[in-house]
Amino acid sequence: MKSFFITSSLLVSLVLLPFAAGAVASAAAAPELLPSDCQKCHSSQIAEIEAAGGQHRDAIGCTDCHQEHPPRGANAIPECSLCHESGGNPHFSSPDCLNCHRPHSPLNIDFARASQVRPACMTCHPNQGQELLNYPSNHSVLDSKECHQQHGQFLTCLECHEPHQDSQSYANCLECHRPHMPLKVAYDNNVPVSFCASCHPGPAVLLSENRTKHHQFNCVYCHKFQHKVIPKCRTCHGQPHFDELHETYPQCIHCHIGPHNLVN
Ligand code: HEC
Ligand code: HEC
Ligand code: HEC
Ligand code: HEC
Ligand code: HEC
Ligand code: HEC
Ligand code: HEC
Ligand code: HEC
Ligand code: HEC
Ligand code: HEC
Ligand code: HEC
Repeated sequence: MKSFFITSSLLVSLVLLPFAAGAVASAAAAPELLPSDCQKCHSSQIAEIEAAGGQHRDAIGCTDCHQEHPPRGANAIPECSLCHESGGNPHFSSPDCLNCHRPHSPLNIDFARASQVRPACMTCHPNQGQELLNYPSNHSVLDSKECHQQHGQFLTCLECHEPHQDSQSYANCLECHRPHMPLKVAYDNNVPVSFCASCHPGPAVLLSENRTKHHQFNCVYCHKFQHKVIPKCRTCHGQPHFDELHETYPQCIHCHIGPHNLVN
């Protein structure tokens, strides 16, 4: 109600309102406010509803929510639970609806006023919430709005972190990390050697210089799927030599030196 034109009926109401506040009898005698009256004084709320009211424009009207008006009635502002009962839909038990929703444009959601939005997010996206709880990391202690500043959007990793090597893109991050469980590094068998080499230069140098058949493999050909997994030579080779040799020298690397600097 920042500015409006003074129409003749508005003038009458403004004269009547302060008067009615002091005199219950005259207030009771004043005519009922009709939905069509609101526009005389509240043009900005009406404009907002017209533009973005959604179901609050199409399914209900002003007086379904504003069932009283000062000075005649003090309960002008409704609780959301008047119509969105908490039973059944867990979202309707979220704290502080007005922290995110504006009643006259209910789907223009703005998290700015909310200190913690995650409980409300979890009511509709339980899987992501569960991942954060089940795989504790420093992301588990960040509120969801640090990464999701608007509903449906997200910041990419690179807006908060440096990559392990310059050439890496956001899509590359997702080859090894998942945003809600970032410490559980898992990957498929396409990860290039250079991605592992940024933290493990030693094995990469050895393999690149090696002249045996191991030279042709990516790291993840042997270190499959899950970071820190160490394979056994026998998983791939079984027992290649005669029993007596393996009994005398149980360690393959006794003769073959190692997987990265293999000697045949
Ligand atoms: C004649 C002008 C006029 C008309 C018509 C009018 N209002 Fe108001 N309305 C006011 C004024 C003035 C206030 C501020 C009153 C106050 O703060 O005590 C107000 C306050 C309100 C408030 C805020 C109350 C609060 O407790 O903060 C709501 C909600 C409201 N009006 C809704 C409506 C609705 C809905 C209609 C139509 C059914 C309507 N008004 C019709 C003048 C009007
Ligand atoms: C879904 C319920 C709902 C509907 C429908 C609704 N309002 Fe409201 N309105 C609210 C709530 C809740 C508030 C309190 C907002 C707050 O505290 O931030 C409010 C606040 C207001 C206020 C006080 C000033 C302000 O903007 O906070 C006015 C005036 C108002 N509404 C007028 C209207 C008019 C006119 C209509 C119809 C065009 C309407 N409202 C439709 C729920 C509704
Ligand atoms: C007078 C009843 C009433 C009140 C009070 C009310 N709503 Fe609604 N609201 C509805 C109806 C009816 C719908 C459409 C059906 C549905 O989605 O349940 C709706 C739909 C919505 C939608 C979806 C809008 C869309 O276009 O899809 C949101 C979001 C919403 N309400 C939030 C709120 C919030 C937040 C409050 C409290 C500030 C509130 N409502 C208070 C009746 C109400
Ligand atoms: C942390 C922010 C947040 C809070 C707090 C919050 N909501 Fe929502 N709400 C959302 C988001 C995000 C959506 C999804 C909107 C979409 O689908 O575009 C939504 C959707 C809705 C819808 C429409 C979808 C549906 O399931 O019917 C209604 C109605 C609704 N909220 C009501 C409420 C009520 C009532 C409260 C308080 C009890 C509340 N919201 C609290 C963020 C919030
Ligand atoms: C009332 C239910 C509801 C609430 C509450 C809700 N969302 Fe959503 N969200 C949806 C729906 C519906 C979609 C669109 C369908 C989909 O992609 O799953 C969606 C989509 C998203 C997307 C895009 C997903 C994609 O694959 O593109 C993100 C990100 C998102 N929501 C994050 C959040 C965050 C963060 C919160 C809490 C602030 C939240 N949502 C609260 C219902 C909700
Ligand atoms: C809004 C900023 C933000 C975004 C976006 C973000 N992170 Fe983080 N991340 C942090 C903060 C803050 C920490 C804790 C401090 C630190 O380790 O830098 C963290 C920590 C981490 C950690 C270490 C976790 C731990 O517990 O030690 C990993 C791994 C990580 N992030 C990966 C990612 C990946 C991958 C993405 C993209 C999917 C991403 N982050 C997106 C802010 C962010
Ligand atoms: C080849 C797999 C792989 C790729 C691709 C990858 N990471 Fe990592 N990242 C890791 C591993 C492994 C760790 C160490 C985890 C540990 O310490 O247990 C890690 C750790 C991190 C950490 C924790 C701090 C640190 O440096 O140790 C952050 C932050 C991080 N990654 C962000 C990113 C971002 C951003 C991208 C995309 C540009 C990315 N990662 C791409 C495997 C990868
Ligand atoms: C961001 C750095 C980073 C990246 C990228 C990275 N690692 Fe690691 N890796 C580590 C750290 C830190 C450790 C733990 C070192 C320790 O425990 O001594 C580790 C441990 C390992 C171990 C277990 C070592 C042992 O002695 O138990 C293997 C195997 C391994 N990484 C393989 C890989 C492979 C394969 C890749 C590529 C898919 C990769 N790493 C990518 C940082 C990284
Ligand atoms: C993930 C499977 C895998 C693991 C683990 C593995 N290797 Fe191999 N290795 C291979 C494959 C495949 C070849 C090539 C076989 C061929 O082409 O005939 C090979 C070749 C070899 C060769 C012959 C090299 C040449 O150039 O002829 C030796 C020796 C060997 N591996 C020893 C080892 C030893 C010792 C270990 C453990 C330290 C080991 N390997 C671990 C898969 C593996
Ligand atoms: C042919 C299979 C194979 C390939 C290819 C391979 N590794 Fe390994 N790696 C192993 C095996 C087997 C071990 C365990 C050696 C042992 O027990 O002494 C191992 C051990 C390791 C270790 C822990 C001990 C150490 O040497 O530091 C790291 C880290 C590692 N590999 C990283 C890598 C990286 C990075 C690459 C790619 C550049 C790679 N590996 C390629 C089979 C392989
Ligand atoms: C006592 C030394 C010794 C030990 C211990 C040993 N190897 Fe060998 N291995 C050799 C020699 C020497 C050759 C080359 C023989 C040849 O070229 O015929 C060889 C060849 C191989 C080959 C290549 C076979 C081919 O057909 O080209 C593989 C694979 C292999 N070893 C795997 C293993 C594995 C796995 C272990 C442990 C379970 C192991 N070796 C233990 C000495 C050893």
